[in-house]
Amino acid sequence: MFYARAIWCASLLALCATTAHAAGMDGAKIVKDGTSSGAAACSSCHGMDGAGMSAAGFPRLAGQNADYLAKQLRDMQQGLRNDAVMQPTAKALNDKEIAAVAKYYASLPAKGSAEPAASEDLLKKGEQLAKLGDWSKSVPACVQCHGENGSGVGAHFPAIAPQSANYLASQLRNWKSGARHNDPQDLMKTVAEKLSDDEVAAVAAYLASLGAR
Ligand code: HEC
Ligand code: HEC
Repeated sequence: MFYARAIWCASLLALCATTAHAAGMDGAKIVKDGTSSGAAACSSCHGMDGAGMSAAGFPRLAGQNADYLAKQLRDMQQGLRNDAVMQPTAKALNDKEIAAVAKYYASLPAKGSAEPAASEDLLKKGEQLAKLGDWSKSVPACVQCHGENGSGVGAHFPAIAPQSANYLASQLRNWKSGARHNDPQDLMKTVAEKLSDDEVAAVAAYLASLGAR
């Protein structure tokens, strides 16, 4: 009786320990080394700390919602989001690996990388758009969906600050061109297609500057 119980307990513990180990370790290991099936080491572009590389347009992933990150990787696999740099790596990941890397990056404190300086005029114009929108062109305020300070709301409305200005601008352009068409009900396409190039630059510079404050 004692033996049977001891063995049962020991094997349960071993099982729990292995599962916890796998769930905790996989994400960090893939981020550091990539996978044998061809996914590149995420850390070489997004960093182990998930801050990204602003100048290169590599987005910050740290602290972004895990379900949102996983959705983006699946959307890239399905061609709803087209990018020559990320797509081969996204396609090389299986569902378990996607869940593990998303969980890893989501667990880190939100933090971006250094941004180039922007002029006060540009930042003011960007702040206006982000907080109030432009009702003369029916552009809603970004914070209406993305939350106060653009810090994100749940799994569907991602954090857009702090985030690389280059990356933000490239996503707005991708919605205009159709390279990215994964947003529910065209919510972002509708916003992006109303913005001029100057407005894209302004709102991207403002949102990126929030990381430094
Ligand atoms: C060679 C550089 C590079 C590597 C390596 C890389 N990425 Fe990326 N990643 C990018 C770029 C560039 C983008 C922006 C793609 C776009 O414009 O749509 C991106 C975008 C993403 C996004 C979308 C983020 C968002 O906010 O929508 C996720 C998620 C992501 N990468 C996860 C990963 C994971 C996980 C790995 C490792 C398995 C990885 N990346 C490896 C460059 C890289
Ligand atoms: C009506 C709601 C709504 C408004 C207003 C809105 N967004 Fe979005 N935005 C979304 C949704 C939903 C997504 C996620 C799309 C997806 O699932 O890939 C998104 C995603 C984004 C992304 C991609 C983030 C990433 O890392 O993948 C950027 C950049 C962005 N929005 C910028 C903006 C800016 C700038 C404004 C203001 C000019 C704005 N949004 C206003 C709903 C909105």
